[in-house]
Order: sequence, then structure tokens, then C-alpha cells
Amino acid sequence: MKSIWEFLGPQQIIFGNEAVLEIPEVLKRFNYKSILVITDKGIASTPILEKVLAPLKNESFIVTVFDEAIPEPTLEAVVTAYEKLREQTSFDLIIGLGGGSSIDFAKIVSLLLKYGGSPRDYYDGKKLVPGEVIPIIAIPTTAGTGSEVTTVAVINDVELELKVGLTDNYLRPRIALIDPTLTLGLPPYVTACSGIDALAHAIEAYTAKPFYTFEQGERAVFQGAFPLTEPLALKAIDLIGGNLEIAVHQGSNIHARDNMLLGSLLAGISFSNSGTALAHAIAYPIGGKTKSPHGEIIGLLLPYVVKFNAKMNPDKTAQLYSLLVKGDENLILDEKIKALYNYLISLNESIGLPIKLSQIGIKQDELEGIAEKTLEIKRLARNNPRVLTKDNLVALLDEAF
Ligand SMILES: [Fe+2]
Repeated sequence: MKSIWEFLGPQQIIFGNEAVLEIPEVLKRFNYKSILVITDKGIASTPILEKVLAPLKNESFIVTVFDEAIPEPTLEAVVTAYEKLREQTSFDLIIGLGGGSSIDFAKIVSLLLKYGGSPRDYYDGKKLVPGEVIPIIAIPTTAGTGSEVTTVAVINDVELELKVGLTDNYLRPRIALIDPTLTLGLPPYVTACSGIDALAHAIEAYTAKPFYTFEQGERAVFQGAFPLTEPLALKAIDLIGGNLEIAVHQGSNIHARDNMLLGSLLAGISFSNSGTALAHAIAYPIGGKTKSPHGEIIGLLLPYVVKFNAKMNPDKTAQLYSLLVKGDENLILDEKIKALYNYLISLNESIGLPIKLSQIGIKQDELEGIAEKTLEIKRLARNNPRVLTKDNLVALLDEAF
């Protein structure tokens, strides 16, 4: 039984409207001169990139912009970026600007520029990152992945038909710079996918197996739920539950955008210590089979996974019910579980996301294979409160089909 937990986070978090204006001060404080900005073509075509670059002009920084990051980055795309960028000057700092995918892209490029090799060396914790990577300032333009504060970078290995996470504390951005004004123009669908992902991070971090159930001396990045991650996750659940639908349906509501970013930040800090669990484990093999974005898959799975795990910790399930459903507190546990499940299904519907695997192109004869691959995502499967077997996973997937 483990008796120790440890909490890690970014060195600095800068949060608030127009926070991007703080960038030159930060760069000067750390004496960063040669800056690589990694973003995608979508952001590069909006005023957001200019907004980030403008404060850097008239200063002595050397700024290189790479705008070929792609959503759900593939192995091929990150390796191509690395090969192109390593020919150039050496960089003191990388700014990852965009959704979680662009920030993940920046993390992997930073790792490769520093140590070479292939991302495959690090899949599912196979090999540890040797040390510090090129420092990253992460500037999210969506509220969801929490990538700005997490240890995780997700990569799509098309050849292996697998989406896999590289997880290491060295991949955590040094600075998270969060400016809600950057998310105001985000379309409803992207707001929905990223926001429901953040809710899942918070729920999975909160309900993860408690840290003390692991073996003493284990050094996994994901430690299970512990006293510091639980309140962060609960606050995140409260903020996201209260603001996601508003942010989707009233995109210019800055108050809702602010709360969503704060919620996804708290969820990110929480789950990057305690870990996510089953929904994220299943999402990896599914992500290799469909073009649906990560958040859509996670949102779809969430109601089924919450129900699947609900009886493992009745107190936590009741807490989720109180924060999200806000219904009659006198209901018995089974009724609360049903209400929570219905709430999560309706939430997906109300923000325009699918609720069945068949809607995103998964075939029934693929479910067994998905269950088998889920069990192989050990760093997340081990974190799930309920013990997983091939049979109980196939039953869950059948229900979600
Ligand atoms: Fe996620």
C-alpha cells in the first residue's frame, strides 16, 4: 500500500483577459531570445497569431513561426516537422499556440529537437524522457485538453492503428498562458468536443483509484486520486457543468469562456497527477479507427463509463450527482446513477455530439478488438476504479454501440 503522493505542476500559470500581452516580460525574465512558435494553419489565418506575435515585435527576439501543426497529430507529421526544424537555428523556447493538438505537437517536437530518436521509443511510457526538453510556453485557444499544464502528448500512429499518449513530467510546459479572449471565436462543435473532454478529465481524475491502493515505491506519472487532486477536479466539474452548454450556444459569452478555461485548467492540473482512466483508455483504440476528434469519442463514452464505475465509490458518485444533476438528494444510489447517466447523455445531445459508437463509424465486429487493445493501455486501465476484463469491456462497448 502506497503512503506517499507527490504533486507536480507547471512553473507558472498566467491567466486572464489579454494575458498574451505578458509574453515579452516572461521571455525577458528567462532570457529567451530564439523563439519557435508552433501553431496550425487555422490559427495562423485568424488574428490570434498576430495577437501573440505583436507584443514580440520591436524587441530583440528572433521569432520563427511553424504553422503546420495538425489536429490529432500523426507520427509522420511530427517527424517531418522535426526534420525540417532541426536544420534551422537552435531554439531557446517553443511557444505552443492552439488547441490541445498544437500544444501536443509542440511537446513532441521539443522532445525530438532535444534528444532525437522516434516518438515510438516513448509510447505508453516504454522509455522515459531523458531530461528537460526545450522549454514550452503553452497558449491554449480551446478549453479542453488541459495540455497547457499536462505531461501528456497524444500522437496518432496511422501504421499501428493506434492513438497513444507520451507521458512524462518533462513534457509539461514550463508556463501556461491562458487568455480567455483567444477562445471567443471558437465554433460550437470545437467548443463542445474540447469542453466535454475537460469534463471527462475532471470526472476520471476524481474517481480514479485512490493513490494508496497502488504498491509502495511505484513511480508512475499517474498516481491515482489523492487529497490535492480531488478538490481541483471537483471545482472543475462544477465550473464545466455550469458553463459548457452556455459556451457552446453563446460563444461570445466571455464569462462562460473564462469559466470553461479555468475548469479545463483545474482538470488538467488534477488529471496530470492522478491520471485519467477507462474512457481515455478505450478512446485510444477507437481513435485509431475513426476520424472523430478525441473529445467527441470521450464525450460519447463518458456516460457509459461513469455508470460502469458508479458503484465502486458511492460517495463520489453521489457527489457527481449533486454537482451536475443538482436533483433530489434523497434518491437512492441506483436512482442517482440513472439520473447522472441520463444527464450525461442529454448533455452530449444538447451540445450536438453523438451518443453511440455506431454514429462515428465503429462496426460491431470491432468491439472485441477494441476491448483487447483497451486492456493493453495499462497506464490508464490500472487507474480505473473497477477491475477491467475483456468480458465486462465488451458488455460496456455493446451498450455504447
Ligand atoms: Fe482527454
